[in-house]
Amino acid sequence: MKAIGLYQYLPISNEKSLVDVYLDRPRPGSRDLLVAVQAIAVNPVDTKVRAPRHGDIKPPETPQILGWDAAGEVIDTGEEVEGFRPGDRVYYAGDITRPGCYSEMHLVDERIVGHMPESLDFAAAAALPLTGLTAWEALFDRLGISPAGADTGKSILVIGGAGGVGSIATQLARHIAGLRVIASASRTKSSVWAKQMGAHHIVNHRRPLDIELEEHKLGPVDYILCLNDTDQHWPAMANIIKPQGSICSIVDNREPLDLSLLKPKSATFCWEFMFTRSMFRTTDMHRQQEILNEIAQLVDRGTLKSTVNLVQQPINATNLREAHRLLETGRTIGKLVLEGW
Ligand SMILES: NC(=O)c1ccc[n+]([C@@H]2O[C@H](COP(=O)([O-])OP(=O)(O)OC[C@H]3O[C@@H](n4cnc5c(N)ncnc54)[C@H](OP(=O)(O)O)[C@@H]3O)[C@@H](O)[C@H]2O)c1
Repeated sequence: MKAIGLYQYLPISNEKSLVDVYLDRPRPGSRDLLVAVQAIAVNPVDTKVRAPRHGDIKPPETPQILGWDAAGEVIDTGEEVEGFRPGDRVYYAGDITRPGCYSEMHLVDERIVGHMPESLDFAAAAALPLTGLTAWEALFDRLGISPAGADTGKSILVIGGAGGVGSIATQLARHIAGLRVIASASRTKSSVWAKQMGAHHIVNHRRPLDIELEEHKLGPVDYILCLNDTDQHWPAMANIIKPQGSICSIVDNREPLDLSLLKPKSATFCWEFMFTRSMFRTTDMHRQQEILNEIAQLVDRGTLKSTVNLVQQPINATNLREAHRLLETGRTIGKLVLEGW
């Protein structure tokens, strides 16, 4: 089967950073689905795993396959699979500890796979799993916001509102939780997109966000979801969170964070990492299947929409290198998707 992989961790300008390869058809383990991948989305995690590394890193002997966002059709199942059969159309993010989905056929544990929205094609569906799971887990599992509307009218600041995660987080916060959403964006294009995703207000993350919120008379806020540069935004987040409010970040800090800034307000800080459930095989890892199925139903009812912004064909090394290059600018809007072989 066709796949795109790497043998060396190189800058994306190097033609060998991602190369076309051929691999054997993989065999499903007992809980696995074998999926004929039709479309994939790219994410910053792909570029982070591919990027040049410091230190004495042994290059992979067999090609390393990246990619953690796919939509496709089930073509085979392991002997213990219960919820799927060949022909099912599925979408999923997958597991960072296993080979990724830059391949014509891909193995994934059924517990983290959802039935894809019936109203979407493969490309529009592939845009949703990784970012949808991240946003859902951050808002409802980590920040503890009610998906049933019990927090209606409270406020949230979504930092990085036009990115992949911000685009779906804004929709969930507004249309599922009923929150007042303040999204950050720094350009006209990204501001317009964030509004289309449901943001009530836009602030500019190139300026200190506490000053922005104060000048627009928008703060303090009940919740903050930080989707970009935790270090840069930390002091402002501590200033604009309400007493007893909650902050969640999905982006690693480079320097130690001063948690004492939150003490006077008894404010909470938590992390969200979308791969936690699959990486540690948590007893509730099937929750990701439930979340993906809930998102699919919300899409089919017209409550949520796909965040796809650009689709390229086919899935090959040239187009994936270009997709990585665009992601590395840090200025993409919504999701970049590749489809077809
Ligand atoms: N922990 C997890 O499970 C998890 C899951 C998914 C993603 N992530 C991480 O979360 C981050 C965001 O992911 P993503 O897929 O949403 O990325 P993305 O789509 O590449 O985000 C692009 C957006 O970031 C905005 N941005 C750029 N610099 C910013 C800054 N200094 N402050 C605030 N916003 C800024 C840009 O807005 P403007 O163009 O308007 O400036 C752009 O629209 C990445 O670091 C990713 O690796 C973590």
